[in-house]
Amino acid sequence: MLGLSLLNVQTILVAVVVGLLVYYIRRRTLYRLPPGPWCIPLIGHFNVYSKPLIHRATTELSKKYGPVFRLSFGPIPIVFLNNYDVVMEAMVKKKADFAGRPASTTFSLITEGNKDIAMATYSPMWKYHRRVAMKALRNYLQGDLLEKLTQDNMMKVMNMMAAEKGPFEPILHLNNIVFYQLYTLCFGEKKDIGDPDVEFLLKEKDLVNKTIENGLREDIFPFLKDLCPSKRYQIMQETFDRVLTFFYKKLEKHKETFDPENIRDLTDHLLLARSEAEQAGNEESMQNLTDTYLVQTVSDIFFAGVDTTRLTLEWFLCFMSRFPEIQAKCQKEIEEHIGSRCPTITDRQILPYTEACLYETMRAGVIAGLGLPHSTICDTQVGGYDIPKDTIVFINHYALHRDPKYWTNPEEFDPLRYLDENGKLDPTKLESWLPFSVGRRVCLGESIAKPEIMMMCVHLLQRFNITLPDGVKQNFIDEHRDVFGTESPADLKIVVKERM
Ligand code: HEM
Repeated sequence: MLGLSLLNVQTILVAVVVGLLVYYIRRRTLYRLPPGPWCIPLIGHFNVYSKPLIHRATTELSKKYGPVFRLSFGPIPIVFLNNYDVVMEAMVKKKADFAGRPASTTFSLITEGNKDIAMATYSPMWKYHRRVAMKALRNYLQGDLLEKLTQDNMMKVMNMMAAEKGPFEPILHLNNIVFYQLYTLCFGEKKDIGDPDVEFLLKEKDLVNKTIENGLREDIFPFLKDLCPSKRYQIMQETFDRVLTFFYKKLEKHKETFDPENIRDLTDHLLLARSEAEQAGNEESMQNLTDTYLVQTVSDIFFAGVDTTRLTLEWFLCFMSRFPEIQAKCQKEIEEHIGSRCPTITDRQILPYTEACLYETMRAGVIAGLGLPHSTICDTQVGGYDIPKDTIVFINHYALHRDPKYWTNPEEFDPLRYLDENGKLDPTKLESWLPFSVGRRVCLGESIAKPEIMMMCVHLLQRFNITLPDGVKQNFIDEHRDVFGTESPADLKIVVKERM
């Protein structure tokens, strides 16, 4: 009996090895695959994927293997696009070829089976929900809704910053800015700092960040989630149970009080889309707009904007405090053109130097080093290589933002690189500047994030002089904390002084 089962195990092992060999040889002869360093089959490039700062490691590798190269994360091949030309070819010229999203155990868990926008693959359903969410977000760009919301939030948080005695870590205040802003945008209610609902979401988000810091083994070996789920996978499961329960409760409250004549927030906009579909008798749209899809859209807007916006603000404070002469130039421009009045969405046009500082912040700070994973929806090509259907592909934003072909002294913070001889923003200098990505999957929040973050920065510079603590002169571009392809300035402490 034992001999028979040993024989079976041996037969199975031989069959697996032969099967894998045939698979690899077929792939190699059928396709001209991108190059990459050698690795142990099945284990893959453990030395890269098990360490933080993957975006930096892959940028180094691209110097040897070229702009399109391949690594293996466990048994999963992953392609990295490392310069502007190949990113534009894949994401724009090749239309939707690269617009899919890979199946991921963790993301499927938190999106109730990819029923959100960010992690759903390219499909009519994804297109539909993206369109609905875009329409809902666009409402915040009309009139002075976003300005008022930003002003209100900034006043609350800046009062707390002003009360700080001596040097402080700005991260807590920046989290408050972002969470309270997105909370009001999504659910309408204006909350005071310290509100238990917002604190709850802040705490849960923090826990999620810590848990997925270096990825979950279930994403490389999905069968582990049923066989022996890791402690971290279980934490994710429990955390998202709590968070989604909270979002469903919010949706129920909105349904009870919904009035199509008085749309209060993003959740109401989504309910309005559903009620319009009902009135038009549009069965298909009604089926698409179930509670699950609505909750997932709200969850996406909330969480996709949280870390990215907070990190941008953190890097902005970092550069402003590090370079007081640049900060003073922004303040002078703001004084000359808008004085002490509340900044508006359109002020970006009259504050080119300050806007250039924000652009440079998004380039030199590492906000989304590798963005979100893409996946090919058909056999396709990029940079002269074949990319088979269902290959995972990352845009290396970090490599694009450090490419010496486009950026002289890429490690330097220099807002002038975006301006023409008249001091105006020159759009031709924005090639290889893609913090929001490009193509079908371009960031859904770009049109709102740009004016919103700009207004936040102007509020901060109007009210405060921001400096590093006495005696501190750090080079933040070299010192960083890493969270899953992003970086934040390590141990950033600042001092703020009211300007008047
Ligand atoms: C500085 C701020 C932000 C940056 C740098 C940023 C960057 C990005 C990047 C790199 C992606 C991945 C694109 C791709 O797959 O190629 C993305 C996707 C996305 N972002 Fe943003 N983002 C920011 C703010 C926001 C905000 C405020 C929102 C919501 C209001 C938002 C909502 C989304 C959504 C929903 C997606 C998924 C789009 C899709 O898969 O179709 N983002 N963002």
